[in-house]
Amino acid sequence: MIEPKTDKELEHMRESGKISALALNAALEAIKPGISAKDIDKLVEEEIYRKGGDLSYKTVPGYKWATCITFNEQVVHGIPTDRKVKEGDLVSVDLAVSYKGWHTDCAWSVLVDGGKIEDRRRKIEFLRIGKEALRLGIKEAKSGNTVGDIGAAIQKKVEVEEYHVVRALVGHGVGKALHEEPEIPGYGVSGTGSLLIEGMTLAIEVIYAEGTPDVILEKDGWTYSTEDGSLSGLFEMTVVVGKKEAKILTDWRKV
Ligand code: MF3
Ligand code: CO
Repeated sequence: MIEPKTDKELEHMRESGKISALALNAALEAIKPGISAKDIDKLVEEEIYRKGGDLSYKTVPGYKWATCITFNEQVVHGIPTDRKVKEGDLVSVDLAVSYKGWHTDCAWSVLVDGGKIEDRRRKIEFLRIGKEALRLGIKEAKSGNTVGDIGAAIQKKVEVEEYHVVRALVGHGVGKALHEEPEIPGYGVSGTGSLLIEGMTLAIEVIYAEGTPDVILEKDGWTYSTEDGSLSGLFEMTVVVGKKEAKILTDWRKV
């Protein structure tokens, strides 16, 4: 079970979160037709180092990039390649930072939208629900609630629109390591699972798809995609469980 963090530890977590937020902001601003996933990864890496952070993903055996970048039906863990962003793509950037050994993790999905793309409204609505599900999940991250309260809130929002939460991939505790206990699924039953205690730090993740929630591992050995090729979105923030409400550490919208 993940320990609540001390004030000193939270200070490092906050700084780590700030660097994550700056890096995610830089990545999302750069997503334009023509930029490659590798270019985005490079600028995230530079931003993280410039702000005094380190690449948390280096702690994952065999993974040597700053980010995971996924397109459309790809769900998570996409290796940044030469693939170029084009109009109409749904692009997700997932990154994590360590600062003085303290990790924070965040991800966001955006539509590359020149205004004239096919299925524009459908894709915008799909993303809106994911963001809303993350907000509702984070709202449950308060002392006295359980892990199941977070998952249930996310699942309810996603399923109301007849989208599906991916089951094979989950959020997690985060802090001294990128992945700590407990697992934080984006689905579950309210009132079940580990009790949340003030000061715990969690990476809450909404990982969902328009179609089937089943995923397949691509030949590169890293990238997960939806089995039916339907669109997938990814929204993740690192938060501190609070007495009355959670505090978001990686909010790129506030940098
Ligand atoms: N943010 C991702 C997660 O929490 C971490 C991916 S690291 C990778 O699952 F190396 F596996 F890509
Ligand atoms: Co994560």
